[in-house]
Amino acid sequence: MNFRKWSDPLAMTKEELPGKNWTAILLAWFDRNKRDLPWREDKPRNPYHVWISEIMLQQTRTEAVKPYFVSWMEHFPTIHDLAKADEADVLHQWQGLGYYTRARNIHRAAREMEEKYGGHLPENKEEILSLPGIGGYTAGAILSMAYGKKEGAIDGNVLRVYARLYAVEEDILKRRGRKTIESLVKETLPNRAGDFNEALMDLGAEICIPRSPRCESCPLLSRCRAFHEGKEKELPKRTPKKPQKEEEAACAIVVREGKVLLHKRPSKGMLASMWEFPMVLSGSAEKARTALETALSGKAGECLWQYRHVFTHRIWHMKAYRMEASHIPEGEYGWYSPEEYRELPLAGPHARLAAFVEQLVRQRS
Ligand code: ADE
Repeated sequence: MNFRKWSDPLAMTKEELPGKNWTAILLAWFDRNKRDLPWREDKPRNPYHVWISEIMLQQTRTEAVKPYFVSWMEHFPTIHDLAKADEADVLHQWQGLGYYTRARNIHRAAREMEEKYGGHLPENKEEILSLPGIGGYTAGAILSMAYGKKEGAIDGNVLRVYARLYAVEEDILKRRGRKTIESLVKETLPNRAGDFNEALMDLGAEICIPRSPRCESCPLLSRCRAFHEGKEKELPKRTPKKPQKEEEAACAIVVREGKVLLHKRPSKGMLASMWEFPMVLSGSAEKARTALETALSGKAGECLWQYRHVFTHRIWHMKAYRMEASHIPEGEYGWYSPEEYRELPLAGPHARLAAFVEQLVRQRS
């Protein structure tokens, strides 16, 4: 028997890394180091809590999600409460998290669960996947964490950790690279799949981080093929992203008797059905301002507010002008006081502008 090989994991050859029992090492590390997070508190885990937290966490940092999750559960303690809420109330609770399609899908899914599944999340994978906004990752997270099923939940963290552990050279954002990792996950998934999935997320969030991994603190250091090959900073490989589209936005601050003019966006497309200050987008700031003046038949005064808002695929360079409006364009417009518009679902950066305008209205009244 080769004792060195048994007692010293570093004695494994490169091809043998990361070896078989790295999943047990990771789970033991998780048992000692898991993060205290509000959605991890109940035992057994509440499927509704897992679902909402996973959707919130999809494009938002963990620290930012915590207060939203707590407030959401106070507001909608069960799927039944969520299903009977108004869409405006749901969007309002989501306000500030961005990517509002997530909130709309959650609401539609809750109504479907209420109708078809007695107000519960189904345990069957096909049924879960048929619900709006729930894809493979979220289904895997719910099934493994709340229902104890042996399912993987592959997000960016998991892709990165596996790519390093197994020194996967393919681009993990391309189909082939993803397939490679999916089959590795399938092969290695242990029995405590829910804990394992969260252990990978914690490792990916705290240690095996994108740019400068903290290998010195990693429980899997001796098992990591990328580390062994000195490639931990090079991997995973990614093809550079396309540049974001940049647009100039001119917004109007029109105030009459302490109320401001707001517009409800169309029910389809970006930031659907959310409220905004009257706004025109264009390739140039000058053209956007002129088009806004034409739309409202008024002169744009002083620019009172500027902001650069970054979405996933585009950037808005926003300027808000004090204006009079002698014409209100077609569409859904209304006059709202700060107390009233605080209750409206405001479109992304317009919530910031609204907070600024609220101060302005207060100072002048
Ligand atoms: N990121 C995505 N899902 C998570 C979870 N369940 N715990 C911590 N971070 C996460």
